[in-house]
Amino acid sequence: MKVGIEDICFYTASYYLDLQVLAEVHQIDVEKFYAGIGQEQMSMAAPDEDIVTMAAAAALPVVEGQDKSAIRTLLFASESGIDQSKSAGVYVHRLLELDPACRVVELKQACYSATSAIQMACALVVRQPQQKVLVIASDIARYDLDSSGEPTQGCGAVAMLISADPKIMEVEPVSGLYTEDVMDFWRPNYRGTALVDGKYSTKVYLKSLKHAWLDYQQQGGHAFSEFNYFCYHQPFTRMAQKAHSHLLKQVGASLSTAEAEAQIADTLSYNRSIGNSYTASIYIGLTSLLENAEHDLSGQRVGFFSYGSGCVAELFSGVVQPGYQAHLHKDYHQTLLARRQSVDYATYRRLYDYPNPVDGGEHAIAAETTGPFRLAAISQHKRIYEKTAS
Ligand code: HMG
Repeated sequence: MKVGIEDICFYTASYYLDLQVLAEVHQIDVEKFYAGIGQEQMSMAAPDEDIVTMAAAAALPVVEGQDKSAIRTLLFASESGIDQSKSAGVYVHRLLELDPACRVVELKQACYSATSAIQMACALVVRQPQQKVLVIASDIARYDLDSSGEPTQGCGAVAMLISADPKIMEVEPVSGLYTEDVMDFWRPNYRGTALVDGKYSTKVYLKSLKHAWLDYQQQGGHAFSEFNYFCYHQPFTRMAQKAHSHLLKQVGASLSTAEAEAQIADTLSYNRSIGNSYTASIYIGLTSLLENAEHDLSGQRVGFFSYGSGCVAELFSGVVQPGYQAHLHKDYHQTLLARRQSVDYATYRRLYDYPNPVDGGEHAIAAETTGPFRLAAISQHKRIYEKTAS
């Protein structure tokens, strides 16, 4: 039985900051961002957008036309939690009008948790092949102003339907794993922005890749030569390029620069303009590969390296299925990216500094999003979500 991704769709917020604006404010050469870290823009959430509205917008095209009673599990992966207790997935469950006979839970391990959700989903489907699992990853990456991480912010959500009818990609069973208790990036409950030891985090990322690959081989995984493409977690797109060079060295692959670049180039396009969307980023990378590759990818094997600071890493593979093109949401994604509004520095600061009320009062939020759902108010400590007219 094949199990894997039946459908995949992403969403990002209504605004973006071009990193040229940040470079001018900080008086540095913009090429440090465009070339040095491989980022051009970063999505910024409007005050009435959050991980719930983005998640529901990503999942809407996936659940439309589905028999909702078959979706018996919703796994919500995020490190941008809006509540210490209630799963953000429960709000999404209502906005999508899913069947009440559904289990919903939120998963957290930095940028890794969506991969864990996919593996759990595959296991559930193997147990009961008639059921489908909706996996949604949604995050808003926020770092302190003027910190090294500031140009690597961004936000986005990706929804994947996992089933025994994987029209997009079969997920193969072997995984390589690596966990180590390290403090490279973390966000204590009392902080709205992450703390990070930037250079150290890149070293731990590469070390984890090495160990996950070794474990993958020990578990009987495919040889490097059996892979056609690689899709990495992308905190910034240069990180994926560095990771791929690292892997090539480790396996002793003798590829030309152009051949090596071709194995990852199409995974980077969307994230260059969205920025870091934490746990969603690697699967927005998969969407980018599927939608931007010039060749038919049917039957091609893609290697995935998922990394979440702290840290947990997993390396696994998937095989793209014949006919996948007919099931992509390319127009939805390209319209979404094209209609985002560019902001100047003052607007970036308004969005960045938008207050997060904690007094239990009535806080209506003006309508700004161009998406299908919005956070309309925070009232008596409750988040009030509604559909928009779009
Ligand atoms: P930095 O230290 O300010 O940058 O920030 P830098 O000085 O290292 O420069 C970056 C690159 O730009 C260098 O290239 C420079 O040479 C180049 P490299 O040596 O790396 O090849 N450069 C230029 N290139 C062209 N023209 C120029 C120019 N100037 C410089 N004029 C840092 C880098 C990664 C530290 C920062 O972006 C950061 O702190 N980011 C946040 C942490 C992060 O993203 N870490 C990645 C690994 S951890 C991870 O992926 C998990 C994460 O997603 C969280 C989670 O799991 O939840 C973060």
